[in-house]
Amino acid sequence: MEFIIYTAVTVLLWVLSASCLLPFLIFLKFSKTYRDKWFSWFFVTLIKPQLSPALGRMRIRAFDLLKEHLEGRKRNTPLEILEIGIGAGSNLQFYPENSNLTVLDMNESFIEYFEENLKKYPQVIHKKTVIAMAEDMHELHDDSFDVVVCTYVLCSVKNVRSVLKEVKRVLKPGGKFLVLEHVMYPSSTWNAILQSLTSPLWNIYFDGCNLNRKNDEEIRNTGFSDVVIEKSYPKDIWMYIRPKIVGIATNLLRGPGLERARKRASDLLKKHLPDRKRNTPLEILEIGIEGGATLPFYAKNTNLTFLEPNLSMIKYFEENRQKYPQITYKKTVIAIAENMHEIDDDSFDVIVGIYVLCSVKSVRSALKEVKRVLKPGGKYLFAEHIIYPGFTWETILQNLINPFWRVYYNGCNLNRNHDEEIRKAGFSDFVAEKSFPKDIWLYAKPQITGVATK
Ligand SMILES: C[S@@+](CC[C@H](N)C(=O)[O-])C[C@H]1O[C@@H](n2cnc3c(N)ncnc32)[C@H](O)[C@@H]1O
Repeated sequence: MEFIIYTAVTVLLWVLSASCLLPFLIFLKFSKTYRDKWFSWFFVTLIKPQLSPALGRMRIRAFDLLKEHLEGRKRNTPLEILEIGIGAGSNLQFYPENSNLTVLDMNESFIEYFEENLKKYPQVIHKKTVIAMAEDMHELHDDSFDVVVCTYVLCSVKNVRSVLKEVKRVLKPGGKFLVLEHVMYPSSTWNAILQSLTSPLWNIYFDGCNLNRKNDEEIRNTGFSDVVIEKSYPKDIWMYIRPKIVGIATNLLRGPGLERARKRASDLLKKHLPDRKRNTPLEILEIGIEGGATLPFYAKNTNLTFLEPNLSMIKYFEENRQKYPQITYKKTVIAIAENMHEIDDDSFDVIVGIYVLCSVKSVRSALKEVKRVLKPGGKYLFAEHIIYPGFTWETILQNLINPFWRVYYNGCNLNRNHDEEIRKAGFSDFVAEKSFPKDIWLYAKPQITGVATK
């Protein structure tokens, strides 16, 4: 019955839009100023009050999820938050005390509603308003926010991929992307077809909003280190926008400290390959290539195979690798390091594993496999974070935080002793340097970079 009513509404909408609403429709389509003013008024005055109870519940769920993910944060350090597509500021009530809020919206007409609303929430320190498209946030610096919030915005942006790329750029390493959106019903269902038939008109009346996007898939494919998405179909929400996603994604850990570790590892490798013949390709296997952060360090005439169990990382890597034509990309192996049965014994000159052993299920099995697929005399190059030496308050802290860290960082462990494990793995030679870089968080500060020879 409900489906019939919605189908009738869609037909009526098309008939009215093609007849008496046509001049209004044309006006909306071609005048951005008018469209911006119309939508901000329409959304704040009619849509928001109508949908508030149901949408409010979803907002509560989203911000609960954020709270869960920020447990353990220091309360006296301000939380740097960016909200994209702020609209009238419906999320202001959820921001914790000591939040520094930057807001961005492409529609200036929303800002007066937002500023009026802001007066009710003195706990929020409003830092800056940026009028810009989320696809190009060049006014905002890299790595500058702890949290980016985006509610009912990806449905309307021109290019979802560019927005997600910008979100990743402005988020600090380890920062959180909180998202609440309506999405498309599963493809080929009647409801999905109705959404697609309604979407072209909806798009004009609702300032570019699309009913048939699969933003959950887009987020999963963007190369965040961890993505949690809950999908639901609340009955009290219009069918067109009923499939809802609430999710949180964590930005990859990177930053200058980790970049330096990668560079240090590559210098170490060069030192260990002094007599390598430049015209013979170097066969390299990289394990857990993530988004391809190591690619800039590979020399000319490199044949690269990579092994990665996380399919969503691969897409990100694929984009990145186009920038490094000096590398001949040979093969992708979708597998875990503990079981590389697709790869023959004695096949590689070099195996690279950077921040990998911390996350594998069995370090011993992974190292056994590394030894097996390395050629005799081949080099295993590693950079890992490890447990602090001895029994100190830092080791206690690492052990205490580890169960939570594992959940947020995709199985990564802070309290492993990789230097000892590699030493014991039976390589003929082992050289490693330990360091405690100041700009890496205490939890992952002890670092080890080294080369082991088979
Ligand atoms: C449906 S409203 C949602 C407002 C608010 N986030 C909320 O949850 O109530 C969509 C908002 O996204 C903004 N928006 C749409 N596309 C955008 C883009 N490409 N860049 C920045 N803001 C955008 C609109 O101007 C509008 O304020």
